[in-house]
Amino acid sequence: MYRTHTCGQLRIDNAGQTVTLAGWVQKSRKLGGMTFIDLRDRYGITQLVVEADAPAELVEAATSLGREFVIQATGTVVERQSKNPKMPTGDIEIRLSSINILNKSVTPPFTIEDVSDGGEDIRAKFRYLDLRRGPLKEALMLRHKIAHETRNFLDAQGFMEIETPYLIKSTPEGARDFVVPSRMNPGQFYALPQSPQTFKQLLMVAGYDRYFQIVRCFRDEDLRADRQPEFTQIDCEMSFVEQEDVLGTFEGMMRTLFKNVLGVDIPSPLPRMSWFDAMDKYGSDKPDVRFGMTIHDITSVAKGKGFSVLDGAAYIGSIAVPGAASYTRKQIDELTEWVKRPQVGAKGLIYVRVGEDGSLKSSIDKFYTPDDLAVIVKAAEAAPGDLVLIMSGDNMRKVQNMLGVLRLEMGGRLGLRDPKVFAPLWIVDFPLLEWDDETQRFYAMHHPFTSPKPEHMDLFYSDKKEDLERVCANAYDFVLNGTELGGGSIRIHDAEVQKRMFEVLGIGPEEAESKFGFIIHAFQYGAPPHGGLAFGFDRVCALFGGSDSIRDYIAFPKNNQGRDVMIDSPSEIDQTQLDELCIKTDVN
Ligand code: AMO
Repeated sequence: MYRTHTCGQLRIDNAGQTVTLAGWVQKSRKLGGMTFIDLRDRYGITQLVVEADAPAELVEAATSLGREFVIQATGTVVERQSKNPKMPTGDIEIRLSSINILNKSVTPPFTIEDVSDGGEDIRAKFRYLDLRRGPLKEALMLRHKIAHETRNFLDAQGFMEIETPYLIKSTPEGARDFVVPSRMNPGQFYALPQSPQTFKQLLMVAGYDRYFQIVRCFRDEDLRADRQPEFTQIDCEMSFVEQEDVLGTFEGMMRTLFKNVLGVDIPSPLPRMSWFDAMDKYGSDKPDVRFGMTIHDITSVAKGKGFSVLDGAAYIGSIAVPGAASYTRKQIDELTEWVKRPQVGAKGLIYVRVGEDGSLKSSIDKFYTPDDLAVIVKAAEAAPGDLVLIMSGDNMRKVQNMLGVLRLEMGGRLGLRDPKVFAPLWIVDFPLLEWDDETQRFYAMHHPFTSPKPEHMDLFYSDKKEDLERVCANAYDFVLNGTELGGGSIRIHDAEVQKRMFEVLGIGPEEAESKFGFIIHAFQYGAPPHGGLAFGFDRVCALFGGSDSIRDYIAFPKNNQGRDVMIDSPSEIDQTQLDELCIKTDVN
C-alpha cells in the first residue's frame, strides 16, 4: 500500500496516528535545523517535518528533495505549534520517520502554487504541471461535479445517454466544419460534428423519446474567451413535447444544478423575455439582466431640432448611467474614444448630465434648449445624478447593439456585474430567419431544423421577403449574466415543411437531397413531434466558477490561434500520409 491517507485528509483527531502519505513536494524549507516539506496531491497539502535530531539518513533525504519530487513519507501525526487556519490540514503536521523517493523531478519551469510565477504561454506548454495547481484542480472538480449532477438529473427524468458518431457529414450550423480525409474513399472527407443535431433527431424518429449526451462538438470559428474549437455540449432531445415541456424540464435541470452544485436558488419560474424586447432594451439577444440601465428609444423626441446628426438618423437610443453625472469632460472624452474603437464601431457619443439639482448640461446645448433636453431626459428615464449617453444611426439594431456594448462596459465600471450574482432567463420567440444583404439570402437564425411557429405557417409559405422576415420560431436560449449558455427549438418533423425550409434558405432540391436526404427520408417514416436544446457545458462550468473564460475549465484547451502548444498541434504530416490520403497541399 503506497499510502494510508491522502494529503487533504488528516485532522487534529488523527494526532498520535502513524500514517503514510504519497505525493509531490510543493516546497521544502529549512528552519533552525528542522526541514519542513509541503506535500501535495489532488486532495490537498499536508506539512511534513523532519526534526533536527532525526537520524542523519532521514535529514539527508529531506534535504535532497527538490520541487515536484514524488515521495512516500511515513510518520506520526502531531498538533502543530503554529497552526495555519487557511489550510484544512493546518492544525497538524507529520513528524517523519522515513522518506522514500519514488521519483525525482527536474526543476519545474514555474512555481506550482495557487499563485504561480509562470506566464500564460509557459503554463499552457506545461499544462500537466499547471493542472497540479489548486485553482485548476478546483475548476476540473467543479466540472466533474456538474457533469455528475447533470447525468443524475437526466437519468432520473428518464433520459438515455446515447453516443453519436464523430466522423459524420457536415451539418451546417453557421460555423465552418473541421474535416477528416478518408483514406479508403480517396478525395472524400468526413466532417466532425458541430453538434449531434441531425443524429438526435434521427434518434427521435427511432423512438428514443428522451435522449441526452455530454458530447464533444467541433467548430472551426474565430476563438474568444467563451469559444473553443472543440467544446462540450449537454445535448438533449425529447419527443411528444411542446416548447413549454422543454423549457420546464431544463429549467428544472438548471435549478437542480444551481442548488446542488452552488447552493443557489434561482427564481421559479425563470423570467422570460422575447427576442425583440431583448434587442430593443439590451441591444443583445443575451442580455445581462443583473442590472437595469436599459436602452430607450428617444428617436421621436430627439429629432427635428436642427442638429443634422440626429435629424438624419433613423434611430436614436439612450442609456442612463446612474450616478455618472459627475463624470469629468476628460472621462467622457475617453468614453467617446472607447465607443469609436472598431470593437464597438460608433461614430460618436452624445451626453446629457443630469445634475443632482435637476440641472442639465449636454454636448448638444447649442441645438437643444433646457426644455428640449428635459423631454429627452424624461424619455431616457434618467434620474438626478445620471449621465444620459446617446447614440444614433441608420440601422436600429446596429445602434442598439452598440448601446448594449456600452451598457455592459458601464455596468462593469460601476461594479454591477458581480460573478457571484446569477440572473438566468429564457429568451424566446426568435425570428426564424435572418436576411443577409451581402449574399441576398435568408439564413436560419438557429438552424435549418427549427420549426416556424404554427400560427406563422401562412407567412412561412409566402413569397414575400417582408412576410418571411416576420416568421417567428419556437426557439429559445438560456441566458445567464450576458452569456448564451444554451439554445434549442421545437423542430420541423414534417418532410414537406423541411423541404420548404430548404427552399427558403436557397438550398435547391438536389442540394437538399445530397446534403440532407437522410433526414428528409427519415421524416417519411413516422417522425414524432420533437424538440430539444443543448447547453454549452464548458460555459456552464466557467460561469458557475465565476469566470468568463472557459479555458480554465477544460483540461487540455487550445489557445486563441486554435493551437495546442503542449503537443504542438496542428502540425504538418508526413508525405507518405498525404500520399495515402491522395492529398496535395498548397501552402504559400
Ligand atoms: P448552439 O449552436 O446554440 O445550438 O450551441 C449550443 C450551445 O453550445 C455552446 N457553444 C460553445 N461553447 C464553447 N465554444 C464554442 N465554440 C461554442 N459554440 C456553441 C453555447 C451554445 O448555447 N444543435 C443546437 C442545439 C439544439 O438546437 O438542440 C446547437 O448546437 O453555450
